[in-house]
Amino acid sequence: MALDYRERIPNNVDLGDNRALQRALEHWQPRFLDWWKEMGPAAFAGADVYLRTATAVDERGWASYGMVKMPEYRWGIFLADPVPDRRIGFGDAYGEPVWQQVPGEHRSALRRLIATQGDTEPASVEQQRLLGDTCPSLYDLRNLFQVNVEEGRHLWAMVYLLHGYFGRDGREEAEALLERHSGDSDKPRILGTFNEPITDWLSFFMFTYFTDRDGRFQLKSLAESAFDPLSRTCRFMLTEEAFHMFVGTSGITRVVKRTLEVMKASGSDDPAAVRNAGATDLPTLQRYINFWFSSSLDLFGAEISSNAANYFASSLKGRPDEARFAEHMAIGQSLRVEVPDAKGGVAAEDVPMRSAMNEVTRVAYVRDCDVGVQRWNRLVTEAGYDFRFRLPSTRFHRGIGVWAGVRTDPEGCPIAEEEWRLRQRDWLPSAEDRGFVASLMQRVTEPGKMAGWIAPPEIGINNTPLDYEYVRLN
Ligand SMILES: [Fe+2]
Ligand SMILES: [Fe+2]
Repeated sequence: MALDYRERIPNNVDLGDNRALQRALEHWQPRFLDWWKEMGPAAFAGADVYLRTATAVDERGWASYGMVKMPEYRWGIFLADPVPDRRIGFGDAYGEPVWQQVPGEHRSALRRLIATQGDTEPASVEQQRLLGDTCPSLYDLRNLFQVNVEEGRHLWAMVYLLHGYFGRDGREEAEALLERHSGDSDKPRILGTFNEPITDWLSFFMFTYFTDRDGRFQLKSLAESAFDPLSRTCRFMLTEEAFHMFVGTSGITRVVKRTLEVMKASGSDDPAAVRNAGATDLPTLQRYINFWFSSSLDLFGAEISSNAANYFASSLKGRPDEARFAEHMAIGQSLRVEVPDAKGGVAAEDVPMRSAMNEVTRVAYVRDCDVGVQRWNRLVTEAGYDFRFRLPSTRFHRGIGVWAGVRTDPEGCPIAEEEWRLRQRDWLPSAEDRGFVASLMQRVTEPGKMAGWIAPPEIGINNTPLDYEYVRLN
């Protein structure tokens, strides 16, 4: 059946005029829908959800709200407006005009970058597919689904690039994006964190805070790319990503708030008492932070990376906000990177800047992660408690890079295996912690009502009152 693309797939890339692309997408679209029905939030296919849909990139068009059944969501393809006479901002081709087509010599590297980014988008939908069953409120349920459909749209964005610019290789890559599945033992998703199941809402808020924020930094780096269609695609994705950051930040903030209320009301900060009163104790929240932060740090890749150096040299992937750097070639500079030394301690190594690009991005990410942590600490202080949240060292609990598999405490001091074994449960969520958090997950679907472990949000979505029926379950 022929589709009216202007109607069915809102876009600003003249889809209706590009026959080859249209044919490729006609082939891919039903597979995407099958994937959504099978791997997405299947139990809610018939629900009406108050969703934001992008129908244009200008201020008014990118956020139109209305009740939509998710399988009927209009997943559009949008590129941010072109920057006139845009020039390459970094690497060996610095200052030259940007590329509107893929240069032959960079074809496979670019395809790999786009496929890796694209793989994370459906992966997160798969990871979160059962969360709807235990939503703490209709407000949160709606936000989950908004994030889910937008990750679906990000998949469309990457598939558009693969189909539009990479010929048959791109089409095969686009198929593979629907064939790999999160946690699948035969065909897992490409990056480790995207194979971790997300079965409780605390993990969902941690994921949107820490892991989506990695996505934000990756998109910022790709938005610098000399390949202009990729840059413009990522720039528009970043506007949606801002909402995902909000879900994480406000979600954890509300959990902290509720915990502090319970501590005040019961007059005790004893973790067992807090749990008995139906809230998450602060040390458990810290362990969740330790887990999701360290797991998300791995997504930036190794501290010393020839791939990162090549991506930068060939102007494919820059540094987030490249313009804030004084110089854009990164030749003859170095970055001091911490590495394990032979005696089980910490040493410093000067790494050529281009090879340290992953670390440059990771450092910016860590600084950004700390903003929320300080906000949560202000709440704790205002409530009159001494507890302080903190990000663990970037050496703690790493699975990729120079610190992979090295046992350290949260301060990053290397420790013996035996001490790790004894202390691990103080630092990372134990099976018992996860069991407790799971026990809190009770489904609340009465408009305006909240589960007891989380405070209500400050305001509703798009100026709606908080008791608005954001999801009609039907
Ligand atoms: Fe995304
Ligand atoms: Fe996201």
